Amino acid sequence: MSTDAPALLRVDNLKTEFSTDEGTATAVDEVSFSLAAGETLCLVGESGSGKSVTALSIMGLLADNGRITQGQVVFEGQDLVTLPESRLRTVRGNSIAMIFQEPMTSLNPVLTIGDQLSETMILHLGLTRKQARARVVDLLQKVGIPRARDVVDDYPHRLSGGMRQRAMIAMALSCEPRLIIADEPTTALDVTIQAQILKLLRDLSDEAGTAMIFITHDLGVVAEMADRVAVMYAGQVVEQTDVYTLFDEPEHPYTTALLRSIPHLTAPAGDRLAAIPGSVPSLLQMPAGCRFHERCPQAMDRCAGERPELLSTAGQGAHAVRCWLYDGAPLPKTAAAVVPA
Ligand SMILES: Nc1ncnc2c1ncn2[C@@H]1O[C@H](COP(=O)(O)OP(=O)(O)OP(=O)(O)O)[C@@H](O)[C@H]1O
Ligand SMILES: [Mg+2]
Repeated sequence: MSTDAPALLRVDNLKTEFSTDEGTATAVDEVSFSLAAGETLCLVGESGSGKSVTALSIMGLLADNGRITQGQVVFEGQDLVTLPESRLRTVRGNSIAMIFQEPMTSLNPVLTIGDQLSETMILHLGLTRKQARARVVDLLQKVGIPRARDVVDDYPHRLSGGMRQRAMIAMALSCEPRLIIADEPTTALDVTIQAQILKLLRDLSDEAGTAMIFITHDLGVVAEMADRVAVMYAGQVVEQTDVYTLFDEPEHPYTTALLRSIPHLTAPAGDRLAAIPGSVPSLLQMPAGCRFHERCPQAMDRCAGERPELLSTAGQGAHAVRCWLYDGAPLPKTAAAVVPA
């Protein structure tokens, strides 16, 4: 997709902090990315890298101790960070929908599937109860729920995990959003169901031209779903590019290490995965310089003291990386980051 297309969403220099008993924890710091209509951006990174906090910041759904202290979230031209809560609620109801990992946390256990799905349609699309119910049955069929006419009167606990996640997707689609944010929507499901749900989401977003931010720690899922990828480490985006470049020519040593940590079909059985040595730094005590330098096999002197910025290494921001190996200038191909085996 052309990087010249006007952005549907532009996250610009976002910083999100939490007050905790031990001090201020900066969970998201200088995060920037943009998303065009119809595009799927995957956010990928280890546990605690700030993927969910980024999503919740965009939605304005941070926990009470959390606050956006810097930056903008521009959706269709308006900054959601400064939007009053009432208008933000309208955006959440009409334009942006979120799908979580565990559907039971977002499905109301005391309402039937039909009642909770039609609620949003009555509220946001102005349908009558009868019209909404017919729409719900259509939607349930569309997301592949068998016996939709019966399921509409079931309570969520009657459904299997995979069926609940389908119901959540139906609920997300019910307001015809232009952006869906899916936070590890298939992690809790077994592999076969996971593949079905991924395909369903991909088909639905292709069909309706819905943009998606897809959060995962699974690079296999990234390969399935992404047009573009932003790799997060310790609250920052460290590399951002299209999905093909990410797998074929990763630049950041962290991305390279992540890629090496995934099982390979061609690897001999019993081969151990390369774990990334060391651990993610504490939010309360970020190292000076590059946040990855203590774990980086290619760290140089300056990495410990100077903080790299996210800079373009290819034209028009198509490939950006936060690493002193690149220094903002495109390097010859042979100098690309290759972690020694
Ligand atoms: N309400 C909160 N108060 C304090 N710290 C928080 C709060 N919510 C999140 N954090 C911290 O922010 C950091 C980023 O968390 P986040 O949930 O975004 O990680 P993640 O990348 O989604 O990880 P995972 O893959 O495990 O879901 C973590 O260190 C987390 O402990
Ligand atoms: Mg998360």
